[in-house]
This record gives sequence, structure tokens and C-alpha cells, in this order.
Amino acid sequence: MITVSFYGNGLAANNTAAVLRGREGVEVRGPYGRDERDAALRSGADVVVIATTSFLAQVADDVQTAVEAGSNVITTAEEAAQPWANDPAIADRLDALARERGVTILGAGLNPGFAFDALVLTVCGAAPEVESLLVERVVDLSGFGETVLRRIGVGHTREGFEEGKRAGTVTGHIGFPQSMRVVAERFGVEIERIDAEIEPVFAERELCGRSITVAAGETAGFRQHYVALVNGAPWFEALFTGHLVPAEIGLEPRDAIHVRGPAELHFFAQPGLNPQSGTAAVLANSVRRVVEARSGWVTVGELPPAVPR
Ligand SMILES: NC(=O)c1ccc[n+]([C@@H]2O[C@H](COP(=O)([O-])OP(=O)(O)OC[C@H]3O[C@@H](n4cnc5c(N)ncnc54)[C@H](OP(=O)(O)O)[C@@H]3O)[C@@H](O)[C@H]2O)c1
Repeated sequence: MITVSFYGNGLAANNTAAVLRGREGVEVRGPYGRDERDAALRSGADVVVIATTSFLAQVADDVQTAVEAGSNVITTAEEAAQPWANDPAIADRLDALARERGVTILGAGLNPGFAFDALVLTVCGAAPEVESLLVERVVDLSGFGETVLRRIGVGHTREGFEEGKRAGTVTGHIGFPQSMRVVAERFGVEIERIDAEIEPVFAERELCGRSITVAAGETAGFRQHYVALVNGAPWFEALFTGHLVPAEIGLEPRDAIHVRGPAELHFFAQPGLNPQSGTAAVLANSVRRVVEARSGWVTVGELPPAVPR
């Protein structure tokens, strides 16, 4: 029997807990909210799933508490997918603690954790050589919760979006540098610089998502363009369009991975990977591989594929 405890009582935790409850040999505890932190983190469950925020610094204490209680940890915090990309001091400290306690820490979800990293690496396995990568993703944002939507950039006026960008409260999707580094590590190449752009996409009429209604003239989505340079040239380009109703801007959800090289390779998923069910699946399917992994802080780049078992 594997015990799995959830900290954070939101969408990702509840969707993942529902998947795991349907599996034999897994006991689910929670999801627990903020007022049940000890129950969530200190029970010594085999795996603690922390699905609270996106930011490494904000989950660091929670990860530490769970590791000290002897649990393996999976966190959805995007910055935790490759924590050395954000804060090497936190990453080194918790990596050392996990090694000492003989447990594993993993940052994962659908993105980062699959769409821009694990899947890209798998697709590259069918390419004789890789000169550069272009990964595109169009995401239907209508199923996200309000907190996440506002933070990534939906439901703002033009001024509010720009002000939020400056203040760091509007971030767009977080996780490109982490995914890019996970891929680069497997290739043994060093990223010199990552250029990043984000631009708002405005609603032309009132639009509704599960948790939010956006007025005409407010942001219904955004476009992001990230380019990682290796040896002075673009090596990994990421294009991400998120929208409450992608059809409003003539798009439909899709994922595309273009591998450039002597034999070009183009991989498409249409409709694209579902952010909610995809995240729940990657998390649920990571429980056993985290239990079996080496100790320390690992990335999806070094683990076997996540499979439902
Ligand atoms: N890597 C990936 O692919 C991936 C996939 C899905 C989600 N995520 C990220 O994972 C996080 C959770 O996603 P979600 O969709 O489940 O969000 P959500 O529906 O907004 O739920 C978040 C939950 O965590 C709680 N919470 C927030 N900040 C907290 C903190 N500092 N300490 C303790 N609890 C806290 C919230 O409590 P209150 O309601 O009390 O605030 C809520 O219960 C988000 O940051 C999201 O961007 C990543």
C-alpha cells in the first residue's frame, strides 16, 4: 500500500486525488487546506503532493517539513521542476536534506513536467540529430481556477496587465526556463541566455471560463515567446498561447514539437494535452516512480516515463 497525502485543496490536488482514489494499492489522505498543514506534511506518508503555489521560495518550507517527516515529495510548483534555475541555495539545501533522509523530491505536472520537457525528450529519441527545437502549445484556459488565471494574466485591463508585469504579479505561464534546462541537461548542452516576451490578448466580447468572466477589452489570454540560446544561436524556442476561448482568436488547443536537423521531425497532438486531466495524470503516474527513484531532488529528465500503474 502506498500512502499519498495532499497539501493544497485546489484543482490540481483534488483532480489528482480523484485519479488515485480509483487505484488499488493507494491510500489517499486529504487534500488538506492551509489550516491542516501538519496533517498534510508531517504524517510520514510515502508521498506528499504539494499543490499550492508556483514559486520555489513559497513551497521550500513545506517541502522541508515533508522531507523531515520522511516523505518523498512531488510538487506542482513550476519553479520546482528544475529548482537550480531559480535558487541554487534552496535547491542545494533541500537536495542535500533529501539525500540524507533517503527520499526524493520532484517538481512535476503537465507543464512543466511533460509538454515542454519529458515529451520533447521522448520525441527527440526518434531524431538522428537535433540542431534546434521549436515547441508550440495552444491552451484552453477556461478550466483554470481564478487565482491561477489572474496570476498568469487573464481578467486584467490593459493598464492592469502592464502594471502586473512590472510588479511580478502577472507572470504568464511559469516554467519555460525550467523545462528548457531539463531538456538541455539531457543533451549535455549549456544554455547561455533565455530571452522572454509576453503580450496580452484582449477579449472582443464578454467571455466566460469556469471561474471567471472577462469583459470586452480585458485580457482573455496571452502569448509568450521564450528563446534559449546555446553557442550564441537559438536552440530551444517555446511559443505558448493561452486563451479562455481559443476559437475567438482562430485557434484550437494543440501541441506541436518541431525537431530541426538533418531529418526533420514534426510531432502534433490535436486537440492539445488537457491541462487539468493531463496534470492529474502526470502527478498520479509519478507517485510510484518517485518512490522508486534515487534520493535527492530529481527532474523528469532523469526519471523513467510516468505511466499509470
Ligand atoms: N506543473 C504543472 O503542470 C502545474 C499544473 C497545475 C498547477 N500548477 C501550479 O500548482 C499550483 C496549484 O494549482 P491549482 O490549479 O490547484 O490552484 P488552485 O486551484 O488555486 O489551488 C491552490 C490551493 O493551494 C492553496 N494555497 C495557495 N497558496 C498557498 C500557500 N502559500 N500555502 C498553503 N496553501 C496555499 C490554496 O488555498 P486558498 O484557497 O486558501 O488560497 C488552494 O487550496 C498553482 O501555482 C499552479 O500554477 C502547476
